[in-house]
Amino acid sequence: MRIILLGPPGAGKGTQAKALAKRLNLAHISTGDLLRQEVAQNTPLGKEAVIYMQKGELVPDDLIIQMLEKRIVQLDAQAGFILDGYPRNLAQAKKLDQILNNMNKSIDLVFYLDTTEKVIIQRLSGRLVCKNCGANFHLTNMPPKKDRICDFCGGQLYQREDDKEQTIKKRLLVYYQETASLIDYYQQQKKLVHLSADEEAELVLEKIIQKIETYHDSLKI
Ligand code: AP5
Repeated sequence: MRIILLGPPGAGKGTQAKALAKRLNLAHISTGDLLRQEVAQNTPLGKEAVIYMQKGELVPDDLIIQMLEKRIVQLDAQAGFILDGYPRNLAQAKKLDQILNNMNKSIDLVFYLDTTEKVIIQRLSGRLVCKNCGANFHLTNMPPKKDRICDFCGGQLYQREDDKEQTIKKRLLVYYQETASLIDYYQQQKKLVHLSADEEAELVLEKIIQKIETYHDSLKI
């Protein structure tokens, strides 16, 4: 299966993508995580990308598309993947369709994780991420068992640079200006599943799994 998780910053795309990838044994492809790795390794791409990321703006399409093309052909993505944070605009969506088409593949489902601005600000301002394995926690919603220590690998938890209030507001603005139009794009392709992401993460995950099962059943008919 090839699945896209769409939604504003803080909707829970990363949280759901990690859980789904584990449950369905699919690759998790997060362009945000790939970019943060490039930044941490101080690569030429990382040096360029960080300028946009710190401002809450989108990294230019040509850089993102090159990075995605390399990742999507890797072995673990052959059986399927969950895309988190890509596409962010129409040009990226069309390019993805073209890349997959050349491989005789296509996107199966697009989950639009819908949530309110109030929830977004609360989630992002309390988010903690593991420096080592990338697991997501939250100061109050999903606190780690030990203060600032990852439950899974013992790594240190940190707050993302772009989770400051001003940058969150800018990221939201960019989302409404550039990314929200993709809801129509995938609706027209009859691939969009609209879900409320305001409930507990486990409940959101179960709703996604149910929709995937219904989709599988419809293919058997
Ligand atoms: P990226 O890393 O993709 O950030 P984002 O899209 O802004 O999304 P987030 O990671 O902030 O939120 P999320 O929806 O994954 O929520 P999460 O699960 O973490 O991109 C960062 C930057 O990189 C961009 O601004 C841009 O500059 C650049 N970039 C990336 N991709 C690009 C592209 N394709 N093109 C151009 N530029 C690109 O959850 C958030 C918090 O809430 C966590 O603490 C979590 O524990 C908690 N939480 C999650 N779900 C729930 C729940 N159901 N209930 C309670 N708490 C919850």
